[in-house]
Amino acid sequence: MRDELLRPDATDDDEIADAVDVLSEEGGLRPRTLADFVGQAELKEHLSIILEAARRRGQAVDHLLFAGPPGLGKTTLAGIVANEVGVALHITSGPALERAGDLAAILTRLEEGDVLFIDEIHRLSRAVEEVLYPAMEDFELDIVLGKGPAARSIRLDLPRFTLVGATTRTGLITGPLRDRFGLVARLDYYEPRDLEAIVVRAAGILGVDVDPAGAGEIARRARGTPRIANRLLRRVRDFAEVRAGGHIDARTAHDGLALFGVDGLGLDKVDRAILSALCERFGGGPVGLSTLAIGVGEPTETVEDVYEPFLIQQGLLLRTPRGRVATPAAWRHLGLAAPNALF
Ligand SMILES: Nc1ncnc2c1ncn2[C@@H]1O[C@H](COP(=O)(O)OP(=O)(O)OP(=O)(O)O)[C@@H](O)[C@H]1O
Ligand SMILES: [Mg+2]
Repeated sequence: MRDELLRPDATDDDEIADAVDVLSEEGGLRPRTLADFVGQAELKEHLSIILEAARRRGQAVDHLLFAGPPGLGKTTLAGIVANEVGVALHITSGPALERAGDLAAILTRLEEGDVLFIDEIHRLSRAVEEVLYPAMEDFELDIVLGKGPAARSIRLDLPRFTLVGATTRTGLITGPLRDRFGLVARLDYYEPRDLEAIVVRAAGILGVDVDPAGAGEIARRARGTPRIANRLLRRVRDFAEVRAGGHIDARTAHDGLALFGVDGLGLDKVDRAILSALCERFGGGPVGLSTLAIGVGEPTETVEDVYEPFLIQQGLLLRTPRGRVATPAAWRHLGLAAPNALF
């Protein structure tokens, strides 16, 4: 195990080594500075001003909330904030903080200016959130000692820290929590041209031989998502090594992606399963989210957070008050005739 950790390039075929390999490759691909972070120009400009101002004043950066679908760079940005300011990054997540004491333990370990990253912050329990409010606003921690009538509360001063929250669901963040962030930023799906730059950058780091047309082909099918762009690049690299002498051009990328079940719009098997369940089994909708999720055998949250946003963005699916509806484009994409009565 240790050996594999020390040799991130090891290509043993046993699964653990492979997992370590992928993890360390993923880690190596994460941009460490704002300059390396591709795309999201407006957000980058806002952040660079906030970071520069904090640096000049010698103060902790204001609390930041990043929202958006998975794989768009929220965790990466938290790392960049800490790195750019030169402070330590502490990572936790909403579901990991079960009791108020869990959060208190982390808060008391922070040093001046440190970044505390809470992933999936919309899943914090009420009790933990209550502890977070005074910590964010006044850098104070109220701890209750003992139980029952003998219980008393003491107040601790905390260092000025920066909370960076990430969520795939802005809608589930309570108002009071949201209001305590100095910046609430939404990450949008990336343009193909930005994704192409991400693929080229990743190929450079991984030592993969890809030409611009090949990178473009991968980028176009990455569902607007850097994580998927990197994943497709790795799959196409495998395909190219085995079938095409290691070089990735448009043709190799196309054939490799087709082999791994990624279609022309970048939809994968689950995306297509959702659309075909919607069109073929439920007559195009409207159908409730939970029925649709059961129909494709995925948890409702996964369908709602991971798959639907891209299908909606692509104009293939609509959320209506009565349920999910397939658009004419969805029928066309599946090669089916849309029932005219619906439109
Ligand atoms: N702007 C970017 N430029 C280059 N690479 C990026 C960018 N954003 C993300 N990536 C790559 O995509 C991967 C996924 O990003 P990250 O883990 O930050 O996503 P996330 O938004 O935190 O996702 P999740 O919601 O699933 O936690 C990173 O490992 C990184 O390599
Ligand atoms: Mg993340």
